[in-house]
Amino acid sequence: MFSLIYRSVAEESFSNAEVYQMLSAARDFNAEHDITGCLLFHNRCFLQLLEGEKDKVHKLFSLIESDARHKKIEIIQTEEKTERLFNKWSMAFYDYGNLELSAQIKLAQIDTFFEDSKALKTQSRLTNPFFNEVRNMLIERAI
Ligand SMILES: Cc1cc2nc3c(=O)[nH]c(=O)nc-3n(C[C@H](O)[C@H](O)[C@H](O)COP(=O)(O)O)c2cc1C
Repeated sequence: MFSLIYRSVAEESFSNAEVYQMLSAARDFNAEHDITGCLLFHNRCFLQLLEGEKDKVHKLFSLIESDARHKKIEIIQTEEKTERLFNKWSMAFYDYGNLELSAQIKLAQIDTFFEDSKALKTQSRLTNPFFNEVRNMLIERAI
């Protein structure tokens, strides 16, 4: 099992509705190729975790990397793993913008990571706890 985490920034022309459409196609593709993971979307930034067989993850990432709908693509972490974090989701999706206030408070910590922490710009000991926390929240909320 192999996992890859990257971040990127949506192009201005990539509308929220188009992000949702892309997600639907992505889920079909991922399910077919036994790829799981999660995609976070916040203030036009993406943070995606892809997990699956190494070759398949690399192939998908090279498609994603050449996708003109986003830019500033940076790999944060690649890792060999024994278990998947998101074994139930072909691509859990989380749009931070669509939350009620109580959830926003709960997410303040993660927002800090997203906005100003170096933790997600380079691999760090905080990367895995971060995704564990995201997974715990996605269990209740992902679409
Ligand atoms: C932020 C982002 C995340 C994406 N995630 C996936 C994904 O998990 N799975 C997938 O099949 N396509 C994903 N895509 C779409 C691919 O980049 C690409 O459009 C898709 O593989 C279809 O390729 P094609 O248009 O050459 O047929 C993503 C695109 C973006 C911008």
